[in-house]
Amino acid sequence: MDAALLPKAELHVHVEGTLEPELVVELAQRHGVALPTTDPAALRAARRFTDLQSFLDQYYEAAELLRTEQDFHDLMAAYLARAERAGVRRAEVFLDPQHHTERGVPLEAVFDGLSAAAAASPVSVDLVPCFLRHLGPDAALEALRTWLPHREHFVGVGLDSTEVGNPPAAYAPAYAVAAAEGLHRTAHVGEEGTAADVAEALDTLGIERLDHGNHCLDDGEVVARLRDTGTPLTVCPLSNVALRVVNALEDHPLPAMLAAGLQVSVNSDDPAYFGGYVDDNYRALRDVVGLTDDQLTALALASFDASFAEPAAKDAWRAEVRAAASAPLASPTAS
Ligand code: ADE
Ligand code: ZN
Repeated sequence: MDAALLPKAELHVHVEGTLEPELVVELAQRHGVALPTTDPAALRAARRFTDLQSFLDQYYEAAELLRTEQDFHDLMAAYLARAERAGVRRAEVFLDPQHHTERGVPLEAVFDGLSAAAAASPVSVDLVPCFLRHLGPDAALEALRTWLPHREHFVGVGLDSTEVGNPPAAYAPAYAVAAAEGLHRTAHVGEEGTAADVAEALDTLGIERLDHGNHCLDDGEVVARLRDTGTPLTVCPLSNVALRVVNALEDHPLPAMLAAGLQVSVNSDDPAYFGGYVDDNYRALRDVVGLTDDQLTALALASFDASFAEPAAKDAWRAEVRAAASAPLASPTAS
């Protein structure tokens, strides 16, 4: 079965990371911004990174082209059209509102544009704004206070941006407010950070999921804790290769995570930058890492298990996965 035919949830995708070079060119024209080149292929070729920060620098610069409600709408509409073709039934989409509001973009333009595109898509979508680590914990708390009047637009909060030098515990006050408001909680930890950072996030943030979490594997006790609490990890294989969190896809620790009994889902992170959408990540796991169709089916089921969606919707999507997995393969010669 092709990976795109497997119904799946995408739980770790940054909407700003779905900004394809073609849309960069369109937005630059729309706003009269001069680019070094207007050739999308050349822009795409320049998306090469040595680590997380080298990526973030490009990602934030390109995201400065997002200025109006229409821009945010067009970005989300393009992602959801592609996600639908990838078999995504449910998308829990991160955004970085602080990066937009600090440039003077009204929060309404961000939320209204993204939510309008989501409402027009057959994909079930919820938004998860993230606190930007490089702006610090006070700014996070202040940002959350400005987001709360727009509570109908989002279901949870996340934590992203520069991990090294910005340990998670400082964000505990913002996470406590989020919990008191009934918001879901997840955080990027253990991507470039350590297993100790993962333990600190579990101790202090009240998170329901862990984004990336790769370095948990360096400490058996942290792995056991994640396994025993059933804390799901949203893993992003192509991202990990592009940002050199792993040396090569062949060496990706996802099989080790499964063997350790961790709850894992497969996600794209920033697909316009890392060479593939979520279906491409599933395909890479099959073709390069050697996962079987049964393992991919289990990963698709796990993606719904870890979703923040309503239980009845999750049940229906899991039934769809089982039906897709047991359907006979279409003959390539059948008309
Ligand atoms: N923001 C967008 N993608 C990210 C990643 N992979 N890690 C941390 N922050 C991010
Ligand atoms: Zn991410």
